[in-house]
Amino acid sequence: MNCPPSGAATPAPVTLVGCGPGAADLLTLRALRAIEAADALVYDNLIGDDVLHFARADAERIYVGKRASRHTLPQEEINALLVRLAREGKRTARLKGGDPFIFGRGGEEMDALRAAGIAVDIIPGVTAAAACAAAAGIPLTHRDEARSLVLTTGHGKPGAQEPDWAALARPGQTIAFYMGVANAGEIARELLAHGMAGSMPVAIIERGATPAQRIHAATLATLTARIAERAIKAPALLLVGEVAARAADTGASDTATSPAA
Ligand SMILES: C[S@@+](CC[C@H](N)C(=O)[O-])C[C@H]1O[C@@H](n2cnc3c(N)ncnc32)[C@H](O)[C@@H]1O
Repeated sequence: MNCPPSGAATPAPVTLVGCGPGAADLLTLRALRAIEAADALVYDNLIGDDVLHFARADAERIYVGKRASRHTLPQEEINALLVRLAREGKRTARLKGGDPFIFGRGGEEMDALRAAGIAVDIIPGVTAAAACAAAAGIPLTHRDEARSLVLTTGHGKPGAQEPDWAALARPGQTIAFYMGVANAGEIARELLAHGMAGSMPVAIIERGATPAQRIHAATLATLTARIAERAIKAPALLLVGEVAARAADTGASDTATSPAA
């Protein structure tokens, strides 16, 4: 391995690599090249073996995600790890599910690395909304049904500002809720309270674009019951809007088991 001793004068750059939704064939060519070239790979739950498989046999693989009862490594420790690897002169690929800059904390890692004087490259990836919509045959925008698309999170930072529910409930748009399963009850309640119809279609796409994919068709009124009866777990995306009516329900018949992420 080509690693100068710790404290090398010139830190190696760190690449934040968008790895897409979990299917190796949705990696970009640029992501693939960065994975193949890396001396060290730092990854978490959304990155599967079929993506790690492209790393060099001698590359260091460092897992920073949740394991059974253990929590994810705190963000500050991940930042410090990336800085340390770069200072050791290791070409480091920080592998991110989907796109690094969409609910991926890529911004926090980039800021920490730059503050430490380390160069950062960003490789965009296929984000869950695009991958899940394609897998379920749901056009995220449509001239007759949705002229805008909102990507939002169903799981804010503790103490974070309340979402603008009135803006989210506006007609003529599609809303993609990332990390929305645990808060589906609140999402449905607030959208209904802000004027959205109970009949509004919702597609729940579990492990989209992977072999374990399940697609569940629901409405705002049936959303929480559907999640409970099908034991739907993260990672899953909620697509809310008229366009979601196209989702063909595969969830009941599919026997995929999906461990929580
Ligand atoms: C921390 S966010 C990361 C998002 C990622 N950076 C992206 O651009 O897709 C994790 C959430 O993304 C969504 N997600 C990621 N991969 C998914 C997949 N294959 N199928 C469904 N949802 C997915 C889920 O809502 C999950 O809880």
